[in-house]
Amino acid sequence: MPTSELALLGGPKTRTAPFPPYPVIGAEERRAVMEVLDEGRLSTFIASPGEHFLGGKRIRAFERAFADYHGVRFAVAFNSATSALHAAVVALDVPAGHEVLVPPYTFTSTATCALMAGAVPVFVDVEPETFCLDPKALEAAVSPLSRAVIPVHLFGHPAPMDEILDVARRHSLRVIEDAAQAPGAMYRGRRVGTLGDCAVYSFQESKNLMTGEGGMLITNDPQVAEVAQLVRNHGEMIEASSARRTYRSEILGYGYRMTEFEAALGLVQLGRLAAQNAARQRLAAHLTRALAGVPGLRPPVVRPGCEHVFYAYTLTYDEAAWGAPRDRFVAALGAEGVPAAPGYVKPLYLNPLYADRRSLAFGSYRGSVRYERGICPVTEDLHFQKAIVLVVVRPPAGERDMDDIATAVHKLWTHREELARC
Ligand SMILES: Cc1ncc(COP(=O)(O)O)c(C=O)c1O
Repeated sequence: MPTSELALLGGPKTRTAPFPPYPVIGAEERRAVMEVLDEGRLSTFIASPGEHFLGGKRIRAFERAFADYHGVRFAVAFNSATSALHAAVVALDVPAGHEVLVPPYTFTSTATCALMAGAVPVFVDVEPETFCLDPKALEAAVSPLSRAVIPVHLFGHPAPMDEILDVARRHSLRVIEDAAQAPGAMYRGRRVGTLGDCAVYSFQESKNLMTGEGGMLITNDPQVAEVAQLVRNHGEMIEASSARRTYRSEILGYGYRMTEFEAALGLVQLGRLAAQNAARQRLAAHLTRALAGVPGLRPPVVRPGCEHVFYAYTLTYDEAAWGAPRDRFVAALGAEGVPAAPGYVKPLYLNPLYADRRSLAFGSYRGSVRYERGICPVTEDLHFQKAIVLVVVRPPAGERDMDDIATAVHKLWTHREELARC
């Protein structure tokens, strides 16, 4: 006989069924992919007479639809957000040996894109409420070598763009929005991604709009769009006069092209985005209501004027209220059948890549960037002590699934003394 009600200590689990899998692939996605196969043109980037370096018809249609959705002039499709970020740093002309300011609480490529372009990331702390770049810390981190900043709309919440843009303007920094986790989010009446010089999205399979793998760069600047197109496609320009492939290398480029399959999926998924985001918002609101009254757990903060699209649902844990460390709470929640993560990605500067400066980009760097524990205390506190990340707060999960999460949390609260002791 178990001696405890807590599943962590052998008691019955709150939930035994797994949460519904993501993504949902519907009949429209299947039809769109089959049409590509039936037509037999899977890329068409490799130019033959009459076609050019801008990609196949679905890629161009997806780019147009994505640009129109954002009300911007250009969208350039990529095989990932990582490659789009790399292209963005190149297109914004950040010189080698210079600095790009980035938060450390993000996915690796927000920072590695600087290294890929020969520049060096400088990590700037985040705000404790939204996990996004702190404009005051940004101001303090600007140096004579700073050339660009990459705010991240982390977990689907917009970064404080007005304040960030103000710092950027005063210090002549170019701005790349990393909107990988926030397609459709709104900031003071404007869509995120339309506020900086350019923005980047990810369509990797876990994202709100997904194509398996894929990415997009959007901008109103024709020159940025053109350089991004070149970086994506081996740096080879098709000469307008010949409409034939001439293998003429304009700049250093890469094989960053999207396929027609992904574009076909993207067109369908873009049509679903508003409903998907609304479903995430409803589930998040339901869970937040169901958790009301549990002390020591702050639900996601949504700043006035911001629309959060909940790529992930976050809780901020207060160890003093619970009497047990966060990691034990998360383990106990997992044992109850609710998957959650203690924190997100480890503060990026703690990786050997930075600590040991394992990139050629450092060769030409003469600045004084530091990569060591303590440089971004808010991020460290969130990551190591307070942040809890749930990715199951998304369709096709429903309100009953959210109720199970809340039931498990209430159970842990009821048995918190046992949790504190174990
Ligand atoms: C904030 C952020 N930036 C960039 C990326 C990179 O996206 P991709 O996997 O499409 O290269 C991700 C993906 O997880 C992300 O979350």
